[in-house]
Amino acid sequence: MDIPRYTLNDGHDLPAIGFGTAGLRGDDAVAAVTSALENGYRLLDTAVNYENEAEVGEAIRHSAVPREEIMVTSKIPGRHHAYDDAIRSTKESLERLGLDHLDLHLIHWPNPGRDLYHETWRALVDLRKEGLVRSVGVSNFTEAHLRRVIDETGVTPAVNQIELHPYWPQPEMQQVHDDLGVVTESWSPLGKRQAPFTEPPVAEAAERYGVTPGQVILRWQLQQGNLPIPKSATPSRQRENLDVFGFELSDDEMAAISGLGRPDGRLFGGDPDTHEEM
Ligand SMILES: NC(=O)c1ccc[n+]([C@@H]2O[C@H](COP(=O)([O-])OP(=O)(O)OC[C@H]3O[C@@H](n4cnc5c(N)ncnc54)[C@H](OP(=O)(O)O)[C@@H]3O)[C@@H](O)[C@H]2O)c1
Repeated sequence: MDIPRYTLNDGHDLPAIGFGTAGLRGDDAVAAVTSALENGYRLLDTAVNYENEAEVGEAIRHSAVPREEIMVTSKIPGRHHAYDDAIRSTKESLERLGLDHLDLHLIHWPNPGRDLYHETWRALVDLRKEGLVRSVGVSNFTEAHLRRVIDETGVTPAVNQIELHPYWPQPEMQQVHDDLGVVTESWSPLGKRQAPFTEPPVAEAAERYGVTPGQVILRWQLQQGNLPIPKSATPSRQRENLDVFGFELSDDEMAAISGLGRPDGRLFGGDPDTHEEM
């Protein structure tokens, strides 16, 4: 399957859809990532805190897909934010993954209460210079967090991975990203356990195009220029989630799905200004 790609502000590119791995552990993680690669995924999303980097690495090593075709993302956790800790954290991630470089490395949460994310960002910029990381980005950053790291280093994150699904569509952050040249990567892109599969704008579009509600939501993501990273342990759903390039939502359908957004739409209240995740 030929997945379109997004060009990043550093000249590299990424597939327009990736594979999320949060919650997958042990043999289940190896099996799910192995089948995701067989099914055509070429962007994998892991993190120190998912405790599955070794399993993701194992699946990559045993896959018939050449390493250079697979874009591997990991994330630095809050407890590793000081400069030296961030460097060490990244080297440990590479060791667990069994890789010589990450294709994308992110700061998992800004943890502004610790006020160290700008140090972490400087470490990422240096790791990129060393070649241990190809592209550098962030996750759960607000506009203020983004502007601070850009002002301090002159380097704009390639990606900001944020919570984004129909109940929490974040148009303001999409605009900030467009202004700054940052790709919006959507986490919990389907809405996880609160997926709005039966909401009329989603269910009716699915009926109209003969697709599933999940495909409608992923199509809604892509038509906004977002990069969704759906997770599925189910091979048939993995395939379904990539098969979203054969239909197009109208402007009205797009607006109706965005209209599902609501002030309490966050999945667990993860406000980046206050949420601490170590
Ligand atoms: N940066 C961050 O702070 C952050 C936070 C949360 C998540 N993430 C990343 O984002 C990834 C995706 O988010 P997520 O896993 O929370 O949520 P999600 O991808 O929105 O939803 C995953 C859930 O939806 C089910 N599912 C998948 N495809 C489906 C389909 N076509 N139809 C029906 N159900 C379907 C999966 O079930 P089965 O597995 O049983 O098929 C799973 O229970 C994570 O894995 C992680 O990599 C990042």
